[in-house]
Amino acid sequence: MLSYQHGFHAGNFADILKHAALLHLLEHLKSKDKPFCVIDSHAGRGVYDLSAQEAEKTGEWRTGIGRLLETRPKGQALAQLCAAVQSAGPSRYPGSPALTLSALRPDDRWIGLELHPTEHSELTRWAGRDRRLAVHKRDALEGLPALVPTPIRRGLVLVDPSYEVKTDFAKLPEMVIRCVRRWATGIYALWYPILVGGDAQTEMIKTLASRLGASHGVLVVEVSGRKIDRGMSGCGLVLINPQFQIETAMAEICAEMVDLHLAGLARWRVERVAGAYAGKRLRQGGTDNGGANRDAIAT
Ligand SMILES: C[S@@+](CC[C@H](N)C(=O)[O-])C[C@H]1O[C@@H](n2cnc3c(N)ncnc32)[C@H](O)[C@@H]1O
Repeated sequence: MLSYQHGFHAGNFADILKHAALLHLLEHLKSKDKPFCVIDSHAGRGVYDLSAQEAEKTGEWRTGIGRLLETRPKGQALAQLCAAVQSAGPSRYPGSPALTLSALRPDDRWIGLELHPTEHSELTRWAGRDRRLAVHKRDALEGLPALVPTPIRRGLVLVDPSYEVKTDFAKLPEMVIRCVRRWATGIYALWYPILVGGDAQTEMIKTLASRLGASHGVLVVEVSGRKIDRGMSGCGLVLINPQFQIETAMAEICAEMVDLHLAGLARWRVERVAGAYAGKRLRQGGTDNGGANRDAIAT
């Protein structure tokens, strides 16, 4: 039985990283005249109400999108995210389905999977009668590999699980690998939390790098270093098959999040962990040792 509801966390620092990266990936897909399809394997409810009880209870959005809106970021992807949030209306935060919808052209498509009954019915209501959108009440672990490749052969898969089940850290990379074997040209973005006292993400990244790295680019984009006693000290994205030279844009997002000290973030890194630049290109920065947020590149 699923208990996680994203309404408690919508607009927090983790959403900022994944949604700014999502908007950047969508811009890339839109740069060609050919249609694309996005699959959102863990879609949530589409749009969130930041004045709702659950959002107020944690207040997480205040150190995420709240702070970002106050500071007016300079980087393109973060500024674009702020604009999308503002156009969603007062106290509303667009989740990945709504952000993707804002980028869709008439021939582009979006498929969302959501297993939680309440979230699924809200998502169905949100999708309405837009023929570009399809909502499935389906377990992503089984459903996503069955849905790829999509009839439109250009596209992006966002995998944004709640990691409620301990085995997710082992099962999700296997699911992504199955999908990549079936749809080798798709772009994949897998979000992961970094938990205080835990290191499950490292094994997950290693699995993806070692099994896909020979023939696919694998990039890690991470913000971390929150000084907290429990919960998420940071989070990241594993990007598979991202466009050439995406590192600069991802480094810009991460460095600005750390500069703004969003939710107490103090470090970031953007690293090719496999593919043509295996283990070589690393950009990183931080403010946690009192130094400036540098952008070093090691080759
Ligand atoms: C982090 S939230 C998604 C947020 C959304 N992607 C966004 O950015 O707005 C994760 C969602 O996955 C759903 N979920 C959890 N396990 C699932 C599964 N096995 N298959 C499909 N959905 C699942 C949860 O109900 C929850 O709504």
